[in-house]
Amino acid sequence: MNILGIETSCDETSAAVLLDGRVGSNVISSQRCHTGFGGVVPELASREHERMIVPIVESAVTQANITKNELDCIAATAGPGLIGAVMVGLCFAEGMAFALGIPFVPVNHIEAHMFSAFIPESPVHRVPEGPFISLVVSGGHTLLSLVREDLGYEVIGRTLDDAAGEAFDKTGKMLGLAYPAGPVIDRLASTGDPHFHAFPKALTSQSQTSKSYRGNFDFSFSGLKTSVLTWLQKHPEEFVAAHLNDVAASIQHAIVSVLVEKAIAAARHFRVRAISVAGGVSANSALRQAMKEACMRHGFDLHIPGTVYSTDNAAMIASLAGLMLSKGKVGNNRYDVAPFASFGATTRKPH
Ligand code: KG4
Ligand code: ZN
Repeated sequence: MNILGIETSCDETSAAVLLDGRVGSNVISSQRCHTGFGGVVPELASREHERMIVPIVESAVTQANITKNELDCIAATAGPGLIGAVMVGLCFAEGMAFALGIPFVPVNHIEAHMFSAFIPESPVHRVPEGPFISLVVSGGHTLLSLVREDLGYEVIGRTLDDAAGEAFDKTGKMLGLAYPAGPVIDRLASTGDPHFHAFPKALTSQSQTSKSYRGNFDFSFSGLKTSVLTWLQKHPEEFVAAHLNDVAASIQHAIVSVLVEKAIAAARHFRVRAISVAGGVSANSALRQAMKEACMRHGFDLHIPGTVYSTDNAAMIASLAGLMLSKGKVGNNRYDVAPFASFGATTRKPH
């Protein structure tokens, strides 16, 4: 089966072709038009997707060495995301599927991240047998879920305010770094001291409110933002500039520690054998290293997608569509296009 996947939920226009369970192409065009705005401008994003969608889809089909007529199915992100941006890819995909007379599969972007560690090219390209803990950390979401092999899942924790990616981007902006600041902080932190300053780790065993921590799988990153701002206001610019790498490493350490602690606590609580970490922030080198060490220590299998599949890409959209088809999870084609996430399962309260 040949599946074309299309992803346009934010500022990446991406198209990928899955050929009988292997990635034939995965073309990603990252928008540059937002430089100078400090974030993604929704209207500019939609217009840029409109400009790029045809050449990107054409190049994905060409690179996969097939013609459009050899496609069996088309999948596209149906949300969550910037609504105008989502609509560009979705309408294009549905129109193209209709014209070719093949099925169209709408895919939830966050669920695609959730299963992105099992994209055909991954070391483990099968969804693990038995439940596993999934941590999705992206620019808009921080979601901890208990996932089953049949693709069903229950959300057990989420952020109460900022997402992990937002925490990187917003604190990075305070340091004067360009958007998205996550990869820049990652780079600066590689030569910085993570213990230079102890920024807060909210809702963990190390936070002041640790009493309410036990069994709480929710996250909160807005306090970190305030703490970084206060720290910056207290220190002269020259001092901050001289210690930029150390500050970046300390911010990264605070975010990463929380993510690792919660993922491990959830895996122990629900007695699963495996953890998957995905979404843009899973490209972070410190998070990858810390998760690897923690999973080895506690005896969990760790699944993280290759970095190209961590950030937004269409291969994960095509891959989840393939999984849904193989497990008979594609029903009628009705869907809601939603800017906010609507997750299939009810939130499970651990206690
Ligand atoms: O999943 P993604 O590509 O888009 C969304 O669905 O939001 O995630 C983008 C987020 C941004 O906040 C970006 O700063 C962050 O992922 N990110 C990183 C790294 N690479 C991307 N954060 C920390 N370290 C990185 N290496
Ligand atoms: Zn994403």
